[in-house]
Amino acid sequence: DGPAAVSPTGRPWGGDPATRSQEGAFLTTASGAPLRDTDHSLKAGRRGPTLLQDHHLREKITHFDHERIPERVVHARGAAAHGRFESYGTAARLTCAQFLQPDVTTPVFVRFSTVVGSRGSADTVRDTRGFATKFYTSEGTFDLVGNNIPVFFIQDAIKFPDVIHAVKPHPDIEIPQAQSAHDTFWDFVSLHTEAQHHTMWNMSDRGIPRSYRTMEGFGVHTFRLVADDGSTSLVKFHWKPKLGVHSQTWEEAQLTAGTDPDFHRRDLALAIEHGAYPQWELGVQVFPDTEEQVFEGIDLLDPTKLVPEELAPVQPIGLLTLDANPRNYFAETEQVAFHVGHLVRGIDVTDDPLLQGRLFSYLDTQLSRLGGPNFEQLPINRPHAPVNDMLRDGMHQTADHIGVAPYKPNSLDGGCPFHAGADLAFIDVPAKVAEGVKERAKPASYDDHYSQVRMFWRSLTPVEQAHTARAYTFELGKCFEQAVKERQLLALANIDAGLCATVAAGLGLPAPEPTVQVPDVQPSPTLSQVGKQWPVD
Ligand code: HEM
Repeated sequence: DGPAAVSPTGRPWGGDPATRSQEGAFLTTASGAPLRDTDHSLKAGRRGPTLLQDHHLREKITHFDHERIPERVVHARGAAAHGRFESYGTAARLTCAQFLQPDVTTPVFVRFSTVVGSRGSADTVRDTRGFATKFYTSEGTFDLVGNNIPVFFIQDAIKFPDVIHAVKPHPDIEIPQAQSAHDTFWDFVSLHTEAQHHTMWNMSDRGIPRSYRTMEGFGVHTFRLVADDGSTSLVKFHWKPKLGVHSQTWEEAQLTAGTDPDFHRRDLALAIEHGAYPQWELGVQVFPDTEEQVFEGIDLLDPTKLVPEELAPVQPIGLLTLDANPRNYFAETEQVAFHVGHLVRGIDVTDDPLLQGRLFSYLDTQLSRLGGPNFEQLPINRPHAPVNDMLRDGMHQTADHIGVAPYKPNSLDGGCPFHAGADLAFIDVPAKVAEGVKERAKPASYDDHYSQVRMFWRSLTPVEQAHTARAYTFELGKCFEQAVKERQLLALANIDAGLCATVAAGLGLPAPEPTVQVPDVQPSPTLSQVGKQWPVD
């Protein structure tokens, strides 16, 4: 059983006792030979030279030389924790997924992250936050790879390299806060105006969360649930923090970035260490699975749009509790590999073109980040369900594959049978696909880039609006190119004349007239209140 699940610092530990190492009574080489000395290399005489035959010296330095792996191309800086997910059973009428049935508890690993900064960057910068959850279910692993903002910058995954290149540090001097980096970001979002909605969430207080414990999480895309009787529904996933939603002020964020760049990861680790376990309820907004996949005029496949909660309330389906810190940052937080394609029976993807591209991207990037095709064997990624694939060999293979016939059909190896209850296998919903010709195009419903931004702006309280207008003014004030500022003011004019006038005055520029007729939508009074209204008992 191994020693108690408590780390040497006294912290509860969520790791697997079978994979612990470096806990022996005496020091050895990697091949287990006991050592007498690790402070002096083997030399010819006291003053050297050093002898090539010193295996311990070479092993120690060689291994050190290869300690680093590439950081994630996005979401490089993160903090994570282990926990459990307790299903309320309320989703059982919608999905046959085992972990969403009544009274099922599932182990989870959750990684929070910033998007833009490198591994050593500060926690409290203005950015989107990742909120990725790995559910180790008895029917395989399900990953919900979401963010703390309900919409995304782009409608099609082919634009992902563009938006990330525009926001990452400038190629010459790699300073994210250089004037040039502000120019590239605002250049992109003012030209590619579908990014305006996500951008306003970033400029609002949501862009500077107080703590990971006080963030909402969103699956963003629309997913499809499949019930036991074969019926399907469309859903959007939401995480609601029990502590409510709280942000820092801009001044606080700057102070904490300077005095404690680890502010969020420290807060998460200390809360768990002291037993103040953070909790979120998982909820779903549910929509009928119609052929158009449109709800109340909102295209459910457009990830730059949300569905206001007064139109489709979020229905709670389970409770997440984080109660154990990782024991080893590298083994767990760094090597964990989330993937939107890690789906289980009863949960399927939709044709959202952003989601479709993500299905390709995560496995692809992890092949290089984690050094080959066997990273699912790493302890943090290993499913808690039995694995019997036909995958073979490859770099970093640690499994000892028995059996002689990793192919199908075969008559030698027991025939590689399918699960006895074949109906327990993943369900590919036979959803109708569009008729038409192959083309690089998008539907007309994706053309409205402003009405939901206006709705979000109008949902904010006066204090939140003041913070948001100040953030636009501050960030645009860092731009060097006048034309970029003027084009972004044009986008603001299409969103709200008052906001545009305030920001223009702050920049010392004239406020332009709107150029687009934006369909007027009602303000959404609950939008900025969602976290606060959620039942907190
Ligand atoms: C990583 C969320 C869109 C590519 C991540 C992570 C999150 C996330 C939370 C961090 C995972 C972790 O903690 O390890 C999202 C959301 C998106 C989105 C919510 C849109 C709604 C995209 C798109 C692409 C993409 C469109 C590419 C086409 C990546 C890559 C990583 C990543 C390459 C690094 C993965 C790794 O190295 O493990 N994303 N992402 N993402 N995302 Fe996304």
